[in-house]
Amino acid sequence: MKKKQLLIGGVILAFLAFSWVVAGAGEGPKKVKYPDGYRNWTHVKSMVIQEGHPLYETFGGIHHIYANDKALKALKKGLPFPKDAVLVFDLLEAKAEDKTIGEGNRKVLGVMQRDAKRFAGTGGWGFEGFKGDTRERVVTDMQTCFGCHEKQKEKGYVFSTYRR
Ligand code: HEC
Repeated sequence: MKKKQLLIGGVILAFLAFSWVVAGAGEGPKKVKYPDGYRNWTHVKSMVIQEGHPLYETFGGIHHIYANDKALKALKKGLPFPKDAVLVFDLLEAKAEDKTIGEGNRKVLGVMQRDAKRFAGTGGWGFEGFKGDTRERVVTDMQTCFGCHEKQKEKGYVFSTYRR
């Protein structure tokens, strides 16, 4: 009887450990991590996309692009982007007021995370969008992002360049 209980206990423990590993792999092995602390990263550039632009529906507003240290080094030196290089596309509403254009609410936080192995199907970049100020994921198919970024193959699938 004792032996049986031990065995059952062992099976339960093994199952718990397994679930923990699966959950610990983050939010699944193929998912991009939320870029905690990106507001302290290096600002690369900004742009306002106005009404009338073909991308207004999806990317209309004001966006700022940030790079973590690994991505910044590659941007500056033209190196290939190393594993865990991360670029952020922080999109806010653009509010025109008294001949100024200011920031409104956050619309979406676009993220590109470098991992040539995990994201081999999309040029070695994982793509994700987090809705507004939440961590709610909005990208259902990374190919829709990659379809556009693919055109930048020569530049490592990245559009932005770093200005001094
Ligand atoms: C219609 C084409 C298009 C699609 C689709 C697209 N992007 Fe981009 N993306 C761009 C362009 C153009 C830029 C450069 C913007 C700038 O110069 O400020 C960019 C920039 C970025 C950047 C900053 C790094 C870089 O390449 O400059 C990130 C991060 C990003 N996009 C994420 C995404 C994500 C996530 C998706 C899918 C939800 C996505 N993009 C879909 C065109 C696209």
